[in-house]
Amino acid sequence: MRLRLAILASGRGTNLQALIDAQEKGEIPTEIAVVISDNPKALALERAHKHQIPAITLVRHDFSTRELYEQKILDLINEYSCDLICLAGFMRILSPYFISNSQVKIINIHPSLLPAFPGLDAQQQALDYGVKFSGCTVHFVDEGMDSGPIISQAVVPVLADDTEETLSLRILAEEHRIYPEAVKLIAEDRIEVKGRKTIVGARIARP
Ligand code: GRF
Repeated sequence: MRLRLAILASGRGTNLQALIDAQEKGEIPTEIAVVISDNPKALALERAHKHQIPAITLVRHDFSTRELYEQKILDLINEYSCDLICLAGFMRILSPYFISNSQVKIINIHPSLLPAFPGLDAQQQALDYGVKFSGCTVHFVDEGMDSGPIISQAVVPVLADDTEETLSLRILAEEHRIYPEAVKLIAEDRIEVKGRKTIVGARIARP
């Protein structure tokens, strides 16, 4: 059976595109059931339309409270019978209300080697710090900031003449590789979470 994904995106949606491409090539056993954006201008919405994927905009200021806003997202995710939420450049922090009321797991891709440089502008943070390597991380989302158990990471060098743009592009190429791979592991039920650690194995036999 295909894992039904809800993808939450606020911007250009290249990670969404990587997931669409992997799905269309048959590389991941998924069905992107719905794309939800908080930004009506997100290029991610256009990408979804182009591939006949339902795309829904929910603007925060149309809701009187954050809880009502997040509940609407949760309702949609249930309506579309999603099994997994993938954050792909979703620029809102999901509250503990959302995390604890979600019936399905949530994953995110972050452009640094967590736990280094969580939050915004991770690539610039890496440059400012002077690290020689950075990269990206796919992780489960918990109530903290980019702090949930790590599923996978990829490393890229930071070059002496890097700008935020050149480093971001190098990292992005790896994001597009490891995000679909991580989704595949989840779709194949091969990830077990033990405390902070995720263990990747053969398909887990569940009762
Ligand atoms: C990526 O760098 C991702 O790591 C971060 O937000 C950016 C989204 O880019 N969470 P895109 O919209 O997928 O192109």
